[in-house]
Amino acid sequence: MDQDRLKRMAAEAALDYVPRGEVIGVGTGSTVNHFIDLLAERRIDVAGAVSSSEASTARLRRHGIEVLDLNDVGDLPVYVDGADEATRHLHLTKGGGGALTREKIVAAASRTFVCIVDESKLADRLGRFPLPVEVIPMARSLVARRLAARGGRPVWRQGFVTDNGNVILDVHDLEILEPARLESELNDIPGVVTNGLFALRPADVLLVARADGVQTLR
Ligand code: 5RP
Repeated sequence: MDQDRLKRMAAEAALDYVPRGEVIGVGTGSTVNHFIDLLAERRIDVAGAVSSSEASTARLRRHGIEVLDLNDVGDLPVYVDGADEATRHLHLTKGGGGALTREKIVAAASRTFVCIVDESKLADRLGRFPLPVEVIPMARSLVARRLAARGGRPVWRQGFVTDNGNVILDVHDLEILEPARLESELNDIPGVVTNGLFALRPADVLLVARADGVQTLR
């Protein structure tokens, strides 16, 4: 079964976690695009969405789903988003699409984070996927040197600007033994907005699509 079909299966399974008539959090990426399309196709009754990117905002609006400002709503019952890598401990690497900061904000505001992935994203340990780090532009070289000093190999995602006007360093070869600790330590480097580790606030539910069905990990 091709990967896109698996992504749609994971997205479809997430519909069961959507409380009807409420505002929900919506992530970013090709898996979440299926989720947004399914919300519309199945006419799921949501009161609106808080979106983690301009791309998802545009897609939600194209389907006629109202997009709300997080400042105008309280905590969200659920946040649905994909990931670039996920472990059985529900730790994630995110930010392949560059939306990591807003994703982390919406995840923090949500009571339940449902992460939807195809089986290729499941890993015993994080680190195969280069870790995205969002950086204030003037600090790019400083942050890159600090990341290199930790054994990482930062690569500037050239030509890419985040929705917040910042740049991304994709850090290869990092040894991620303690994801929560590394997440905090990298966020302490001056100029780092946030990094793509989701371990301090991991997923609550991980839906992993395989050819024979969707596995639920909690
Ligand atoms: C965007 C993300 C996405 O969730 C992640 O890149 C997975 O994307 P896809 O569903 O396209 O594989 O973190 O910043």
